[in-house]
Order: sequence, then structure tokens, then C-alpha cells
Amino acid sequence: MKKVGLLGCGNVGHIIAERCDGFVVTAVFDVDTRRAEEVANLCGARVYPDFDRFLESDADIIVEAASVAAVREYAQTILTKGKDIVILSVGALADEELRRGIEQLAAATDHRVYIPSGAIVGLDGLKTGEFANITRVVLRTTKNPASLGIATNERMLVFKGTAADCIREFPKNINVAVAIELASGVKAEVELWADPAAIRNIHELTYEGEFGEVTITVRNNPSPDNPATSYLAALSILTLLRNLDRPLQIGT
Ligand SMILES: NC(=O)c1ccc[n+]([C@@H]2O[C@H](COP(=O)([O-])OP(=O)(O)OC[C@H]3O[C@@H](n4cnc5c(N)ncnc54)[C@H](O)[C@@H]3O)[C@@H](O)[C@H]2O)c1
Repeated sequence: MKKVGLLGCGNVGHIIAERCDGFVVTAVFDVDTRRAEEVANLCGARVYPDFDRFLESDADIIVEAASVAAVREYAQTILTKGKDIVILSVGALADEELRRGIEQLAAATDHRVYIPSGAIVGLDGLKTGEFANITRVVLRTTKNPASLGIATNERMLVFKGTAADCIREFPKNINVAVAIELASGVKAEVELWADPAAIRNIHELTYEGEFGEVTITVRNNPSPDNPATSYLAALSILTLLRNLDRPLQIGT
């Protein structure tokens, strides 16, 4: 069974620890040691108060569920220390230099970097962009203003532009925009709306190309403890980890 090290013991970390099945969490690390201890109590993992010692644990794969900043700070060291990595804060990879560095290091060390589908669906179709020309990708995301850390009584457009610029302004909220760009290889047209009436995180994704056209609307329930994070994102990591070693791979 795969041994998992959890980097980040917040909302997603708690869900992974509570629901681990088909893998075992052996090590946890968080800048907030109290949170790390809570998660360790849920799954019997060992708490590491120090990142270097965390990497000396017996974990085969590190699951990052922390922040864009944590990916910048730790991803390359994780690969250098001989571990695979799952990156949930994929927004960090909008930085092309960082992404290239991580990819090259993974190739050089023969390790893998997994990007879960997170809060969106349809990445499988977008990946056909490697073989068939995808010509246009549009993402319209709507969240409650509280998730975005702004105050408004009316539905309003808070951002329109590229995924890279959007994740810079909203690093906790728009990871999916970067995931869809990485999957398709096409720059997305991104809109972010704040809507006081929104009780779910809504992603409307449209893409078109040689194959035809896809329109997807995902209405995600926010996680109980962090309205910015969709519950689906935590579930996508559970699914990824459980399926890593399965002989039958579906929709990958
Ligand atoms: N790809 C997606 O679709 C998707 C969806 C939802 C969330 N996310 C991202 O996943 C991450 C986790 O989400 P969450 O809801 O669990 O967040 P959270 O804020 O509830 O928890 C994050 C935890 O990571 C810890 N942390 C942050 N930076 C750290 C660092 N540099 N070193 C060590 N610990 C650090 C924090 O102390 C906190 O306990 C966030 O970056 C979020 O934006 C991505």
C-alpha cells in the first residue's frame, strides 16, 4: 500500500486523513503544528515539526494540500529527496520557470508529479489537445464574495483575463484555471464573478476544437471548514491516490 506524506493539514488534509482507503498516511507536516497534530490523530500518522525530517520519513509520495507558496518552496526538494508529489495548489505552476524546473527535475530523478483534477471535471477531454487542435477554452467561475475575501451586495465581475494573472490576484481560489491550461496547452479566457447569492462554487467550462465542443457546469459544495475549497477537490486526491497502482486505469 502506498505510504503518503501530507504537506498541509488544513481542510483538504483533514478530509484525506479521515477517508484514507487504499493508501496509508504515515507522515504529516504543517507550519501550524496544532493542525498537524489534529490530522495525525485522525489517521495515526507521525507529526514532523521540521520539513527536512518530514522528507526523511518512509512516505513514497507527498501530497501537497497547503498553498501556492508551499509548492514554490518545497516541490523541487521533495523530488530531489526521491519522492513523488501530488500538487493540489496547481496555481503555482502558472509560473513557467517553476513548472519547467519541476518537470525537468522529475524527469531527471525518474519521479512523478501528479496534478489531480481538483475542483473541475473534463481534464481528460482537454488533454486531447496534445493530438487534436483545441482552439478555445473559456472558464467562468462564480463564488460567494466571502470565499474571495471581498464585500459586495451584488453579483459583480471581479476579474477577466488570463489564468496566470487571476491566480496571482486570487491564489486560494482559481487553481482550476491553471489546471485546464496545463491540460489543454491553450491559454484560457478566465472570468471570476462574486455573487452573494452563490452557495456553491460554480465553474462553467467550455472548450472547442477539431473534435467538437464541450460545455460543463460544476456546482461544487464548498468544504465545511473552508468555503474557498470545493469538497470535490479533496475527493479527487482520494481517487488519484487509490487508483495509482490499480491495473485497470479509467479516464486517465
Ligand atoms: N486544484 C484545485 O482545484 C484546488 C481546489 C481546492 C483547493 N486547492 C488548493 O489546495 C490547497 C489546500 O486547500 P485547503 O482548503 O486545505 O486550505 P487550508 O487553508 O484549509 O489548509 C492549508 C494548510 O496548509 C498549511 N500551509 C500553508 N502553507 C504552508 C507552508 N508553506 N508550509 C507548511 N504548511 C503550510 C496551512 O497552515 C494550513 O493548515 C490551497 O492552496 C487551495 O487553494 C486547489
